Amino acid sequence: MSTTLQNDQFRLAARPVGLPRPDGWQRTSEPVRAIVDGEVVVKTLYLSLDPAMRGWMNEGKSYIRPVAIGEVMRAGGVGVVVASKSPRFAVGDHVAGGLGVQTYWTGAADDKSANLTKIGARMAPLTTWLNTLGMPGMTAYFGLLEVGQPKAGETVVVSGAAGAVGQTVGQVAKHLGCRVVGIAGGQDKCDFVVKELGFDACIDYKNGDVREGLKQHCPNGVDVYFDNVGGDILDTVLMRINMKARIVICGAISQYNNTSAVKGPANYLSLLVNRARMEGIVVFDYAARYQEGVAALAKWMQEGTFKSREDVVEGFDKFHDALLMLFEGKNFGKLVLKVAEA
Ligand SMILES: NC(=O)c1ccc[n+]([C@@H]2O[C@H](COP(=O)([O-])OP(=O)(O)OC[C@H]3O[C@@H](n4cnc5c(N)ncnc54)[C@H](OP(=O)(O)O)[C@@H]3O)[C@@H](O)[C@H]2O)c1
Repeated sequence: MSTTLQNDQFRLAARPVGLPRPDGWQRTSEPVRAIVDGEVVVKTLYLSLDPAMRGWMNEGKSYIRPVAIGEVMRAGGVGVVVASKSPRFAVGDHVAGGLGVQTYWTGAADDKSANLTKIGARMAPLTTWLNTLGMPGMTAYFGLLEVGQPKAGETVVVSGAAGAVGQTVGQVAKHLGCRVVGIAGGQDKCDFVVKELGFDACIDYKNGDVREGLKQHCPNGVDVYFDNVGGDILDTVLMRINMKARIVICGAISQYNNTSAVKGPANYLSLLVNRARMEGIVVFDYAARYQEGVAALAKWMQEGTFKSREDVVEGFDKFHDALLMLFEGKNFGKLVLKVAEA
């Protein structure tokens, strides 16, 4: 392996208070080391930018350990194998896995935390493997089916509707025969989920009243609420739920950069009145079943009844600014950072 390759990295330099700041990162660069038997080098092509990254920067107990100070920032990505001493991967294979915010990943082909898997570049564009056929898609698919358990004819509401998880939640629910109402910021995003993705309606929470929107678009109440945002929107939806409703707690992006305590739902007694339940989902719990999710979603995509929209920002150096787009609603579709040409 040539040692002339240079690995550029973003390392966590300080734990943010509120929004991440540019000086919270340390830029480093080191030569890609020679590999030994069982190892590979992967060149990063695209990185997945996820709201969860904000949580991984915090200290404290969560579903995954925090990124340590000085450690390369954790991130999913897709890349191409450029050196291999492992029978699992050949040079030229495309892989997805936990590559981190760096231009090359080096390690054992069977490294558990990276969890490298071969992906079919001919089956779908590489960026789709970070979206519908990747972690957000699996979150949506298993979160909706296993936790939300929607039935045909029921009303499903999803927030963050035009985002990575939201777009798949809504489309899966439509395939199941549900009425689907999105909640998103701005007319363009609302138009997209209705006209392009086939949602029945969408409430623009930035320019309208969510409570009124729910009254208008969910005349029979809400059976499943897939919550990506938390905060006031969760509280408002709780006021419209039906008997035995299911609330899927997937995320609470409205709360991730709080400098004060997370705002919990004030209207939680609606769960009591309606004998409803609220349950969290962590996508990694379904890792053993990803193939099942990928097969179902890929089939719909191949049939032309399912869309995957990614928003690609180009340039490794733009990592910080691109990450902030998630918290300002500036991404339109799954946010992906293009690091190198495929
Ligand atoms: N539990 C799991 O295993 C798991 C896995 C993946 C993702 N998640 C969670 O799922 C949620 C969606 O993730 P994603 O990757 O699909 O992101 P995304 O929806 O593609 O992007 C984030 C979107 O959140 C919306 N947003 C930002 N600030 C907001 C605020 N204050 N109030 C309301 N909406 C706000 C913005 O859309 P608008 O323009 O519409 O406001 C923004 O575009 C996140 O909460 C994430 O943490 C959970």
